[in-house]
Amino acid sequence: MTHKEKVEICVEKIQKLIDGFQPEVGIVLGTGLGGLVNEFDIKYDLSYEKLPHFPLSTVESHKGRLIFGYLNGRKIVAMQGRFHFYEGYDMKEVTFPIRVLKLLGVKALIISNAAGGINPSFQKSDLMIINDHINLMSGNPLIGKNEAEWGDRFPDMFAPYNAELIEKAKSIAEENNLPVHEGVYAAVTGPNLETKAEYKYLSIIGADMVGMSTVPEVIVAVQMKLPVFAVSVVTDLCYEGALKPVELEEILANARNAEPHLSKLIGGLLTKI
Ligand code: HPA
Repeated sequence: MTHKEKVEICVEKIQKLIDGFQPEVGIVLGTGLGGLVNEFDIKYDLSYEKLPHFPLSTVESHKGRLIFGYLNGRKIVAMQGRFHFYEGYDMKEVTFPIRVLKLLGVKALIISNAAGGINPSFQKSDLMIINDHINLMSGNPLIGKNEAEWGDRFPDMFAPYNAELIEKAKSIAEENNLPVHEGVYAAVTGPNLETKAEYKYLSIIGADMVGMSTVPEVIVAVQMKLPVFAVSVVTDLCYEGALKPVELEEILANARNAEPHLSKLIGGLLTKI
């Protein structure tokens, strides 16, 4: 069975389970950021296990469910639990849900993640709107047979992050006095964090933050012409003077501290999409 057939079977099954509900926006909740679902008016809650060909979450800090419902009056579908390359999924598995969301008819995709702050002006639990990326992962979800129905063989990456959504988010941040920056996200495979020399290298090549997700999903969304907005939460400081050994617990705690700000930003953006 082809990748495309697997995606289509999964979409068909979901459509049966959600009984005509038509989500307008897809949301990917990053590490430590699943709490946003507490603000949803949930209509359908589908555990990944129920969905044919959908990968299953392995990381403890991620619950695996696809949630359909309302947030600020908008019909949304949210992934609580994403798939990372470092867990052993291949790039097609990592991006399987993005294909599914697009085929379910969402008109925009909002992605959040937890990441390390390279830019020395960033503080723990700050947010950064991603306006560009550097792909340092060793794979690419578009490698292999191209499905012309899904998009181009050589998708353009001049502006992967939707400029209108960025501007709207910036005005929401300003109105609400949120600690929000804008910058470049570098994607690495992980799962180890970086060495001091690697953080320095990332800074020299122009990265403001570094993390282990998002870029494969964005590449697939762009290929499918799905407008993307992505935001990182600073969970650890990775620049000289602030860099120190870090525990996963601290990363999760700093992500959780940012949740109220993230909720304001994403909730506000939904009202303007
Ligand atoms: N590096 C890579 N990924 C991360 C980091 C980091 O410092 N912090 C959170 N995710």
